[in-house]
Amino acid sequence: MGVTTVTEMTDGVLHTLFRTEQGGHEQVVLCQDRATGLKAVIAIHSTALGPALGGTRFHAYASDEEAVLDALNLSRGMSYKNALAGLDLGGGKAVIIGDPDVLKSEELLLAYGRFVESLGGRYVTACDVGTYVADMDIVARETRWATGRSPENGGAGDSSVLTAFGVFQGMRASAQHIWGDPTLRGRKVAVAGVGKVGHYLVEHLLEDGAEVVITDPRHESVQRILDKHPGKVTAVVDTDALIRVEGLDIYAPCALGGALNDETVAALTAKVVCGAANNQLAHPGIEKDLADRGILYAPDYVVNAGGVIQVADELHGFDFDRCKAKASKIFDTTLAIFARAKADGIPPAAAADRIAEQRMADARAARAV
Ligand SMILES: NC(=O)c1ccc[n+]([C@@H]2O[C@H](COP(=O)([O-])OP(=O)(O)OC[C@H]3O[C@@H](n4cnc5c(N)ncnc54)[C@H](O)[C@@H]3O)[C@@H](O)[C@H]2O)c1
Repeated sequence: MGVTTVTEMTDGVLHTLFRTEQGGHEQVVLCQDRATGLKAVIAIHSTALGPALGGTRFHAYASDEEAVLDALNLSRGMSYKNALAGLDLGGGKAVIIGDPDVLKSEELLLAYGRFVESLGGRYVTACDVGTYVADMDIVARETRWATGRSPENGGAGDSSVLTAFGVFQGMRASAQHIWGDPTLRGRKVAVAGVGKVGHYLVEHLLEDGAEVVITDPRHESVQRILDKHPGKVTAVVDTDALIRVEGLDIYAPCALGGALNDETVAALTAKVVCGAANNQLAHPGIEKDLADRGILYAPDYVVNAGGVIQVADELHGFDFDRCKAKASKIFDTTLAIFARAKADGIPPAAAADRIAEQRMADARAARAV
């Protein structure tokens, strides 16, 4: 039998886990089921506030080490997101390694469900990139700890309705902070990406009397909105054109991550950025560039928490009105973050992190006594 030597890459992952700020995770589980081709990583960053909740990403990574690092980063992000959403839940995330179009099967999802079940509720899963409501219905056949299921199976279904509602609350809070009034009436708002979340957000904005400009490479998504609201919405060719629209008040990235990079921040005409997309800041330091340009940034993970609030509610038997009431609180949370940022002289993204860290530290301290 051969002996496996510790490679530099593995050492890199373990170094991150045990010795860096990005690590500190409570538990990382490597799962394998050769019969179905399942290779998965379940990362539990923190259970300080309760069981670790976060979705399962199904993705073809360049390497297994990259997959572990992604699970570490994503689960850490969930601790912060759940803390600021006011949930009594910690942060976790799982990745299944491989191309879902090639690898995904009922047997693989069932095998994955058994691994989730084996953690006895320390980790609660949900949908993420590459996994869907129908997949969670299958996973849930093997574990009680799967949310994001279909309404027919006791789930809440599509989370984009409340995600859009939460982003809208974050925008109202931004308007309150910067213009002294939460209404978006007469404000010019640019929405980049009018998919599941973006198109609901446009509805809220129009209802509130905002002027809306949109873009999306999917022509049919744009046309659907233009047809529904003739003369009320303008479409531009792409995001490059969108961020340069004259007189823009708010920019809402609702497509992919990394929307705020050096070029977009330099060119942006808007005074506020508030949108649904995850991981909008392309690299550390962008939050400071935004602040230096006088642009108010509502942290993505705070304003897009409507979805996680919804899946968390499934654990208690889903109730839409209860969820909507919780998602409404995103307004107060966003305002509190802006106030803390001002008091501490730091960007809102850093203030959000501090508030989340405080909530987790308080919970740990309360447990220790
Ligand atoms: N759905 C949720 O409940 C939820 C919750 C939290 C965060 N998010 C995040 O919000 C974002 C949108 O999610 P979604 O569920 O609406 O996804 P989606 O795939 O339904 O919509 C994304 C839209 O963006 C468009 N798009 C892609 N590239 C673009 C570009 N360069 N410029 C403009 N538009 C572009 C796509 O064509 C698509 O219509 C994602 O980043 C997602 O991670 C979603």
